[in-house]
Amino acid sequence: MSDDRLIVALDVPNAIEGLQLARQLGDAVSFYKIGLGMLTGGGLGLANELKDEMGKRIFLDMKLFDIGATVEAAVRGLARFNHDFLTVHGDPHVVRAAAEGAAGSATKILAVTILTSLDRGDLDENCIKPGSMTDLVQERAGRALESGADGVICSPFEAAAIRALPQSKGKLIVTPGVRPAGADKGDQKRVLTPAQTIANGADHIVVGRPIWTAADPAAAARTILAEMNSPQARQPNH
Ligand code: C5P
Repeated sequence: MSDDRLIVALDVPNAIEGLQLARQLGDAVSFYKIGLGMLTGGGLGLANELKDEMGKRIFLDMKLFDIGATVEAAVRGLARFNHDFLTVHGDPHVVRAAAEGAAGSATKILAVTILTSLDRGDLDENCIKPGSMTDLVQERAGRALESGADGVICSPFEAAAIRALPQSKGKLIVTPGVRPAGADKGDQKRVLTPAQTIANGADHIVVGRPIWTAADPAAAARTILAEMNSPQARQPNH
């Protein structure tokens, strides 16, 4: 039985390679993330095929940001496909519009807090107020959840702080930046293992390269699933 707490990021260039990978992974994986990199490579078609033909769950990682009316229209259009998750930036006006656009569909809106690739210097450059990254992420997460987000995207290091917020009760925490022990980090700077991330309160973990670059992707996925179900993954804060 596959465990839908593991979401595999299909960061391959096009739908043909994505479908090949999903076939290789077979029953080991039931949830896929499709992002902007595949937008021009048939990403939406692949999402629909994985959902409708193969019964997979789908996370569309579009990180939408615009004026409210445009976000609402974009989300309404995408929500017709009833994919499971759709990301928008966590600004309250964006989240409110997205929640409106998704109303009546099965699509859950996940808010991006602060991109994990940004550091304090980047925030200064963007005129973002002073404060530690963790405090700002926690504040943005709280506001996004109050504005109607069904959950948030954050790094494994911030999951516990967000899980501790009263606003996160019953909401989803989804975390990329996860690496099995000994795996190559790629460009991820701050990573935790699958077990540590689940223990910090994450509901789903997103893993890409450690699976899709592996010689045997299904075996790599099974190793991660085993780690997620190990005693180290107990969730003290959940
Ligand atoms: O290959 P890797 O496991 O690093 O893939 C992580 C996925 O999560 C990628 O699709 C990446 O774009 C996405 N992501 C991330 N950090 C964020 C938001 C999304 O790594 N803050």
